[in-house]
Amino acid sequence: MNELERKIADRIEREGPLPFSAFMEMALYDDEYGYYRGDPFGREGDFFTASQLQPVFGAYVAALAQRLDAGFEKLIDIGAGRGEVGEAFAEGKYASVRKGEKIPKTNRAILFSNELIDALPVDVAGRDGEILKVDWNGERLVWQPHEPREGAREMRQGVRAHLEEAYEAIDQGSYVLIDYGYREGEHLRFPTGTLMSYRRHTASDEVLREPGVRDITAHVDWAALLREAQDVGWTVRSVETLRGSLLSLGEDTLASLNLLGEMQLRTLLFGLGESFDVVVLDKK
Ligand SMILES: C[S@@+](CC[C@H](N)C(=O)[O-])C[C@H]1O[C@@H](n2cnc3c(N)ncnc32)[C@H](O)[C@@H]1O
Repeated sequence: MNELERKIADRIEREGPLPFSAFMEMALYDDEYGYYRGDPFGREGDFFTASQLQPVFGAYVAALAQRLDAGFEKLIDIGAGRGEVGEAFAEGKYASVRKGEKIPKTNRAILFSNELIDALPVDVAGRDGEILKVDWNGERLVWQPHEPREGAREMRQGVRAHLEEAYEAIDQGSYVLIDYGYREGEHLRFPTGTLMSYRRHTASDEVLREPGVRDITAHVDWAALLREAQDVGWTVRSVETLRGSLLSLGEDTLASLNLLGEMQLRTLLFGLGESFDVVVLDKK
């Protein structure tokens, strides 16, 4: 039993079984033992993100930002991880926001996040709408009343508040969100839901094991996110695959990205290109 498991078990003994979102918040972000207190990225870590494909990914983000608004003041990278994307921006043109920090108020900004939304905690409902919780059986953490099975779906509560904060932070500009997810109706591809844990580049559905030591994610429900975005005032400019977004920058930009790193561009186009989406929201 690790320290975080003990802390979660103590809380369950005091409060009763926890909604999955409360468990996921502790597993990823607990002040003392949460997963993201460490550095999980890269070859020695548990997973790669596109942000590690430098310089090509940064150059792509910079070209996209330029096309969205050539006069933007800053690109603000929310949940920046190691912050590699900043290498593609001139001094003073890039800022990062970490968990627990507020998005800085800016007049004309491009907000940006890569793999942020999939790391925001979710609750899990069973087929009949029953909320699945996390309990302690005296030996280990267990699902209650049952583990996610056919018909299970995740619900992410924090998206609306995040999109609202982002909207309020800027006077005008765009928010570029890159992540893996499913579009309207596509959740049927994931009959037991999309919760997944990652440890040393291996995916597993054992999300309750070794809290704080493994990453936990769930795909983004893009249709739900777009509804919430429009509710808080954003206009949806585009929804494309990462591959589509790269291709839409045109042949000259693609040629310059290719010169910077042919293998990195191929990985973005063909490896991540179809499984990641790029959503652009506008505030006018
Ligand atoms: C999967 S990592 C992605 C990191 C980086 N964007 C990349 O592409 O490598 C998710 C990051 O989001 C951060 N995060 C989670 N919730 C956040 C929030 N509300 N505000 C800012 N960052 C947050 C986590 O601490 C973590 O560093």
